[in-house]
Amino acid sequence: MSESNNNRTQTGTSYEEIQSLANGILSKVKGRPNIGIICGSGLGKLVDVVTDQEIIPYKDIPGFPISTVPGHEGKLVFGKLSGKSVVLMQGRVHCYEGYPPQKIAVPVRTMKMMGVKTLIVTNAAGGINRDFKVGDLMIIKDHVNLAGFAGVNPLVGLNDERFGPRFPAMSNCYDLKYRQLARSILKELNYQDFMREGVYSMMVGPAFETVTECKLLSILGVDATGMSTVPEVLVARHCGLKVFGMSLITNECVMEYDSEQFANHEEVLETGKKRSENVKNFFSIFIEKIEV
Ligand code: HPA
Repeated sequence: MSESNNNRTQTGTSYEEIQSLANGILSKVKGRPNIGIICGSGLGKLVDVVTDQEIIPYKDIPGFPISTVPGHEGKLVFGKLSGKSVVLMQGRVHCYEGYPPQKIAVPVRTMKMMGVKTLIVTNAAGGINRDFKVGDLMIIKDHVNLAGFAGVNPLVGLNDERFGPRFPAMSNCYDLKYRQLARSILKELNYQDFMREGVYSMMVGPAFETVTECKLLSILGVDATGMSTVPEVLVARHCGLKVFGMSLITNECVMEYDSEQFANHEEVLETGKKRSENVKNFFSIFIEKIEV
């Protein structure tokens, strides 16, 4: 960890430390990925379609943050997906686990340093949009960094220009061409009934949202909400990666004060299991067809 000498917030892991992390990992594997994939809660099954696997557990990578949540395996998997060289993070870390957001930057910057050009992020999310159903797949078209409103942003701190600019733009955050491609593939697969496109928001968690918070998100134009993804996407865009994001709607957020329904993590994992074949089918075609 490098710290400024004039009491500013720590910058997180330095460029040189990320470089040595990336070189250390690459020295252990043959794979040279240009696509990185971060699997959300219950979505780690995507690893089943990766061939020529080379696996490194996070715990064997010094300085790599380790996920503590059920449904997040904690492995870096190198291999081929639809003929393309990928690295897949089976399990991610979240701010609610106690990691500062700057730590969440580490895996993304390491991927960039290993040669990744495109980052694919997936997550489980609660449906705010009342038209959304459990099991829907939502192409993320934009996000609201609600955690950022409270100062939680991985780019806070001294900026190293070698990673990216001090003030990175966040329009076209979720690449338009990738979104268009995703729409056409989901239609081709006849997944229209559960295909959506919308805005994702991130609150830190770990508590699920109150009824009033869900109503607020709805007023803000949010379609689905979760506790991840945004920090990784901010870091990815900062360092020039193209991004595609997809949410699996695992529960409908409760918006009625007298409801006896409540969100829970078991439901999240269960829905992930039910959609895993569709998710695998989609990404197999998507990765085959994307331009990196
Ligand atoms: N809220 C926040 N995060 C989530 C939810 C939710 O309802 N479902 C899955 N992750």
